[in-house]
Amino acid sequence: MSRRASRAHWRARGRGDSYSRKAAERGLGSRAWFKLESLDAKYDLVCPGRKVLELGAAPGGWTRYLAEKKACVYACDQRDMEVPQGVHFLRAGVGGEAFGDWSSRHAPYGLIVSDMAPDISGIAARDMASAEALVDLACDLADTLLDEAGGLVVKLFQGDPLTRFRCRAEAGFGEVRIAKPRASRADSSEMYGVALNKRAVRTAGGLLRQAPAR
Ligand SMILES: C[S@@+](CC[C@H](N)C(=O)[O-])C[C@H]1O[C@@H](n2cnc3c(N)ncnc32)[C@H](O)[C@@H]1O
Repeated sequence: MSRRASRAHWRARGRGDSYSRKAAERGLGSRAWFKLESLDAKYDLVCPGRKVLELGAAPGGWTRYLAEKKACVYACDQRDMEVPQGVHFLRAGVGGEAFGDWSSRHAPYGLIVSDMAPDISGIAARDMASAEALVDLACDLADTLLDEAGGLVVKLFQGDPLTRFRCRAEAGFGEVRIAKPRASRADSSEMYGVALNKRAVRTAGGLLRQAPAR
């Protein structure tokens, strides 16, 4: 790495650490809260009463942000976490049977957010495939559980998962963006896919759903 690149790298890491410090001062647990805050500031995702399905919620930074914004939150993670008051939490694997029953009972949602990340094996091809599978899972759920005009936010990693998201989201949504929040470490390939204005699903009999998302 050149001296200039190295300086930029350490400046970016320092900026990341300042988010960790801010998170600790405010008792937020991790910098994740700031990532959703900045995506929301840019894309106007969350409003009071909006029904939000959150995938991969633990340890709870995003859940807390959503609860503070007075969204109606349905959060799921395979790990346990401290659940803010008013939030509906399911401890289960996303994609499993318990999750399927629970999530469809409360559908449709105005917004689905996924910060799910795979457990890293260290084998690049396997990790890439796992990350891609999580993107597919979130996109499948958006197909079936998201209201017309609803939005989707998905954690991505550069490479196949990003390409996969773009391809699927462009088919189903009016607007698709890829964002790198400042609170996300600059030396991580983590990005977020944001898809807005889900298109109405048309069937032979007409529109599948008419109700507007909140
Ligand atoms: C990066 S953390 C999420 C951080 C969270 N957004 C926050 O603000 O604190 C990723 C989470 O995804 C969860 N996860 C990954 N795959 C999952 C799956 N298939 N079902 C449920 N949770 C999953 C992990 O257990 C982990 O807690």
